[in-house]
Amino acid sequence: MSTLLQINSSVFSDNGNSSTLSNEFVKSWLAKHPDGKVVVRDLAKNPIPHLDSNTVQAFFTPAESRTIEQQTIVNLSDTLIAELVNADAVVIGVPLYNFGVPSTLKAYFDQLARAGVTFKYTETGPVGLLADKPVHFIAARGGFHQGKASDSQTSFLSSFFNFLGINSINYIYAEGLSINDAKDKSLTDARREIEQAAAA
Ligand SMILES: Cc1cc2nc3c(=O)[nH]c(=O)nc-3n(C[C@H](O)[C@H](O)[C@H](O)COP(=O)(O)O)c2cc1C
Repeated sequence: MSTLLQINSSVFSDNGNSSTLSNEFVKSWLAKHPDGKVVVRDLAKNPIPHLDSNTVQAFFTPAESRTIEQQTIVNLSDTLIAELVNADAVVIGVPLYNFGVPSTLKAYFDQLARAGVTFKYTETGPVGLLADKPVHFIAARGGFHQGKASDSQTSFLSSFFNFLGINSINYIYAEGLSINDAKDKSLTDARREIEQAAAA
């Protein structure tokens, strides 16, 4: 049985453009994998706490030396990492907010980056410890940024997932969503790409 991990990060939850498209990805993926399992994380409905000093300390403390409070903190990170490790494919809805990814998505990523668990340091630099798997980013944007300096998301998302060892990254862009003349065509084009990517 195949497992798809879906992460939605629109503040509008299922009503966001990125979530709507990512939900359509899931529908197409389930048509191709009728016995498949979908694990859903909606970061607007269930936000992940932002990184703080207690969390970093807990991550840096060896398992056998952690207090109960530290272990409780690490348990959330372990759960999120296990969801990613156990997924065969991942789809992430990524709105563009104020030139960056939603802070909820950054908070989620901050739980995934764990030295000795998802990456390790070597003499030649850091090495990702996760097995490669397809990760599909559905990027919803009010304007047009792809290939421009204003696209702060693409290089950040690729760098982060490459750092963990995941290199099979696919971007589906729905841009110009705040521009009336562009919106419909953008959504139609994105939907076509989503159907193809989900059925691959
Ligand atoms: C708080 C906020 C900030 C935004 N910032 C940008 C921006 O910096 N650049 C841009 O092109 N669009 C921006 N937009 C437009 C969104 O990218 C667009 O509405 C997109 O559909 C958001 O995804 P969502 O509908 O899944 O939430 C912003 C929208 C909101 C609500």
